[in-house]
Amino acid sequence: MPISLRVNGRTHEVQAEPGDMLLSVLRQDLALTGSKYGCGEGQCGACTVLVDGQPVRSCVTRVSTLGIKPITTIEGLADGDRLHAVQEAFLEAEAFQCGYCTPGMIMATVALLRATPSPTDADIVKALQGNVCRCGTYARIMQAVRLAARRMRPSDSSGGAR
Ligand code: FES
Ligand code: FES
Repeated sequence: MPISLRVNGRTHEVQAEPGDMLLSVLRQDLALTGSKYGCGEGQCGACTVLVDGQPVRSCVTRVSTLGIKPITTIEGLADGDRLHAVQEAFLEAEAFQCGYCTPGMIMATVALLRATPSPTDADIVKALQGNVCRCGTYARIMQAVRLAARRMRPSDSSGGAR
């Protein structure tokens, strides 16, 4: 049956069964392969995308539940050639090895920093604890999130105390 999905600012009509999972529709029907298939059970976060700004596991999200809610994938973050600040920070901090977990980590970070622009380390750990990195680059991921948070915060307009 035809299902309309609003992905990265565009409406797509796809032929899908109501029980089809968002991840397979993104990857197979829309050729958006940045979101990764890891566990397929909602446990690893590799498939994380934003729905209505909230991080969701697309491998366990049925397309029939989404309606016209806006979906953002890793492909929708950059502005033309300009990467999103979180993408820049992950690159700069070299916060990956194989990169398989990275799209999900980045999407979860974007959601965190929208809700909590100045996260503590505990906030970061809590927001990303469901995202697994098999390469164990957690220390550099923490650095990347801190860096992105610093860059994305509106600059301090006080000009410093006198
Ligand atoms: S692939 Fe979706 S949570 Fe692991
Ligand atoms: S960089 Fe390989 S799984 Fe995270």
